[in-house]
Amino acid sequence: METLGSVDSLRARVTGWRRAGERIAFVPTMGNLHEGHLQLVREARKLAPRVVVSVFVNPLQFGPGEDLDSYPRTLDADRAALEANGVDLLFTPSVETMYPRGVERSTVVEVPEVSEGLCGEFRPGHFAGVATVVARLFNLVQPDLALFGEKDYQQLAVIRRMVGDLGWPIGIHGVATVREPDGLAMSSRNQYLTAEERCVAPALYRVLREVADAVRGGHGDYRALERQAMEALVAAGFNPEYVEIRHADSLRPVESGERNCVVLGAARLGVARLIDNVRV
Ligand code: PAJ
Repeated sequence: METLGSVDSLRARVTGWRRAGERIAFVPTMGNLHEGHLQLVREARKLAPRVVVSVFVNPLQFGPGEDLDSYPRTLDADRAALEANGVDLLFTPSVETMYPRGVERSTVVEVPEVSEGLCGEFRPGHFAGVATVVARLFNLVQPDLALFGEKDYQQLAVIRRMVGDLGWPIGIHGVATVREPDGLAMSSRNQYLTAEERCVAPALYRVLREVADAVRGGHGDYRALERQAMEALVAAGFNPEYVEIRHADSLRPVESGERNCVVLGAARLGVARLIDNVRV
């Protein structure tokens, strides 16, 4: 596995592969890799002969007061895990490489509608930061397909919408959430949990599953289900931001009784902010 940091060296490598007719699968990450990330890499391996992974902690998607500075950076361990999983190229650009004009002065990609509400409401500017960095990474790596986790359900919807709206010939593959044995979705941010909070954390998934079960069982009042779920999270010790039942593709709010939904939730537990979702 090769590790490259510059645009020119990356371009040279992928141009060679494209000339040889080799398809490229791409997995963008912020590093501190766990089994969730590695599942994306293993899926990528199955789908294309060349796999590129990026590790870049993107300042543009962090708000003021968020964890940009404390975000765990573990490049040596990440490199070893990627090498062991058959990755061809690890791209580790600097902030200057990704934002040559400066983070504040970059052109920004705004994806309407799917970026609004849910995490978009509690993290203003976050999805514009994600869309912008993914757009630039796509243009640098020029992949045939890219893989994203369903754990970040709204992010996946934003990327699909951006690629569709802009007409890029890149297939977007969603990968099912990888969980700890007790159901907690794997996340780099789980490290922020104290031992006590870690015992409470799986309740987020449990509560979302209960909402999904109720919807599946024909429970009439979705707004009441959302409210009850928020209360259950408070009772469990969370500081919940939202629990919402949305349309699984467009993420628009749904009326009680609608099908093809997803139940999404975000909640703070101590300093950690946890998100999860369950398809109905
Ligand atoms: P990061 O949080 O590092 O996640 C990278 C990819 O791994 C995302 O597609 C995410 O959904 C996926 N992922 C994380 N935890 C997962 C889990 N438990 N199961 C399955 N997939 C999981 O998401 C980002 O980075 C950034 O926003 C990025 C897209 C790289 C843009 O900066």
